[in-house]
Amino acid sequence: MNILHVCANPKPTEESVSKQLAAAFFGKIIELRPDVDLVNVDLYDEKPPFYSYELYKRAWYPVFDESYEPSKAEDMAINYAAKQAEAFNAADVLVLTMPMWNFTVPAIMKAWMDQILCPGLTFTISPEEGVQPLHNIKSIVLLVASGGVYKEDDERDALSSQVRAAFGFIGISEVEIVWADGQNPLFNMDHEQRKEMAIEAAMETAEDIAELELDPASEAVAE
Ligand SMILES: Cc1cc2nc3c(=O)[nH]c(=O)nc-3n(C[C@H](O)[C@H](O)[C@H](O)COP(=O)(O)O)c2cc1C
Repeated sequence: MNILHVCANPKPTEESVSKQLAAAFFGKIIELRPDVDLVNVDLYDEKPPFYSYELYKRAWYPVFDESYEPSKAEDMAINYAAKQAEAFNAADVLVLTMPMWNFTVPAIMKAWMDQILCPGLTFTISPEEGVQPLHNIKSIVLLVASGGVYKEDDERDALSSQVRAAFGFIGISEVEIVWADGQNPLFNMDHEQRKEMAIEAAMETAEDIAELELDPASEAVAE
């Protein structure tokens, strides 16, 4: 099993609840599936560039114009996306670890999503076939912490809808969410209990992911 873990949190693990969820998740999955092939991308070490005009041309012009020939600058503009797409396309499972910031994903995570959701790299698009995935991701695990408490379908939560919509576009509909909410100690006396419950949920989600049915070819790569 190949897992790509993308983390958008500048804090050390001992200060970050979402990173503690990730530690629990990966501790459990490595125990259950020692064969797991894990690629870690810390976005603060591998910072995505903001989307540029050169990248826009290199990514989207080929979709509309067969005669397009990229300039050197346009070719270089796709380097970050191409490198990330290699790890993305090799993964069976994508784990995203992040805090909620201003009701959505941290900007660095959004910048990474803008890079990875690139035609010709992770999907193809045409009037005949619509959007066709080039990746093999079966499931996304979203590990999140927030200060406030959010009910399911809370309209203030733009984070989970952003992730579902963006990756749903390229054919990934399975999103497991583990959410440590109520982490602001000023307003939530029970923030420690909430964290412990979310850590338990992260380990249970790891148990489910460990049992995921994969293509035999994908299993062979991990061995
Ligand atoms: C810049 C910033 C923006 C934040 N915005 C929100 C928010 O919109 N909603 C919320 O519930 N908590 C918000 N928080 C609180 C964090 O989500 C909370 O502290 C969470 O535990 C952070 O995750 P971490 O412990 O993994 O870093 C914000 C915190 C920061 C620093």
